[in-house]
Amino acid sequence: MNWKIPLSDLRLTQEDRDAVMAALESNWLTMGERTQAFEKAFAEALDPANPPFCYAVGNCTLALHMAMVALDIGPGDEVILPSLTFVATANAVLYTGATVVLADVASDTDWTMCPHDVRSKITSRTKALCPVHYAGQPCDMVELRKIAKEFKLSIVEDNAHGPLADGWIDDAHTVQALGTIGDIGCFSFFSNKNMTTGEGGMVVTRNPQLAEKLRLIRAHGMTSLTLDRHKGHAFSYDVVELGFNYRIDEMRAALGISQLSRLVPNNAARAAVQQHYYQALDALPQVTVPFRHRVAQGRMAAHILPVLLPETCTREAVQIALRDAGVQTSIHYRPIHTFTYHGNSPQVRKGELVMTDILTPRILTLPLYPSMTGDDVRTVVDALRTALAGA
Ligand SMILES: Cc1ncc(COP(=O)(O)O)c(C=O)c1O
Repeated sequence: MNWKIPLSDLRLTQEDRDAVMAALESNWLTMGERTQAFEKAFAEALDPANPPFCYAVGNCTLALHMAMVALDIGPGDEVILPSLTFVATANAVLYTGATVVLADVASDTDWTMCPHDVRSKITSRTKALCPVHYAGQPCDMVELRKIAKEFKLSIVEDNAHGPLADGWIDDAHTVQALGTIGDIGCFSFFSNKNMTTGEGGMVVTRNPQLAEKLRLIRAHGMTSLTLDRHKGHAFSYDVVELGFNYRIDEMRAALGISQLSRLVPNNAARAAVQQHYYQALDALPQVTVPFRHRVAQGRMAAHILPVLLPETCTREAVQIALRDAGVQTSIHYRPIHTFTYHGNSPQVRKGELVMTDILTPRILTLPLYPSMTGDDVRTVVDALRTALAGA
């Protein structure tokens, strides 16, 4: 389709293309110096004063799986995560043989994981929490950290949506980058994300023991890398962990460095588009806008613009009317417990998900990308107004 306003817009630059070409011409294509430079730049962008350990990987799904493995999560363990997330969050737990316990969202205007519901779902088998910073909006990390401490649980942050956004970590509102607050943080650089490498991800920790394990399991558990041997630094290797091949390549690391250099202005542009939406959507009181009245907790990422349609309309009719007006929409997300596989899996505990079930048929995501103008936003909101009148 030739969308007038697409859901997201990649806009690769000449610098992006030059960076990838330079990697191709360098005669070294996998996990080399560009990957190391990408990891260093990402760590310093997250926290210049105290850069965490960062390992670039093939995608965020792999990062999440590595996080679970590094924390020794396996059969008999339970991990609590929101049902309102992308399926990969849950699958990363299922790959280990552990059980997924689904938690509800906090409210109809806060679609992050509800700490009260999390608390009510903890059992003697609970090993970790996996909060998702939905839309780049921080989960209530202050409460989740208190719960994790009380029950001795690990925290894996799924921060696919919020690179270089911040969140509060304590009652004094100390600010830290999302993805560096829990034990391990996972980032996605998939094509529609705030920064992209096509496919790509990053796994991040501040804990040196976890860092060493993550480093090893990314590349087969081997004690030296092909690059070390190429440089003459090593001649052989041992295998000390059951690892994977979850590596990234140099072309994508090069694109990552180039994309990262524009992430701060792009996130700011996204936040400005979000503000345009908030103002325009105030004229449609029948549409609920989650996070609309939230206080910013530091830097923002504004990854997507989800809204809650009125109960009375049919979502598909709204989506068709918007499509006919040239506006692409999506749904973030169909919750995990509604999928055939996960709904039937004995490895997934659904329990009560009252608020998620209320939201499910009414969630709609509107276009949001850094180059969107105020006029583009008004076009979308006008189209939504017309669509609602007919739906
Ligand atoms: C919340 C969330 N978690 C995990 C992922 C998986 O990321 P990737 O596609 O990089 O594996 C995504 C990607 O869409 C996501 O949105």
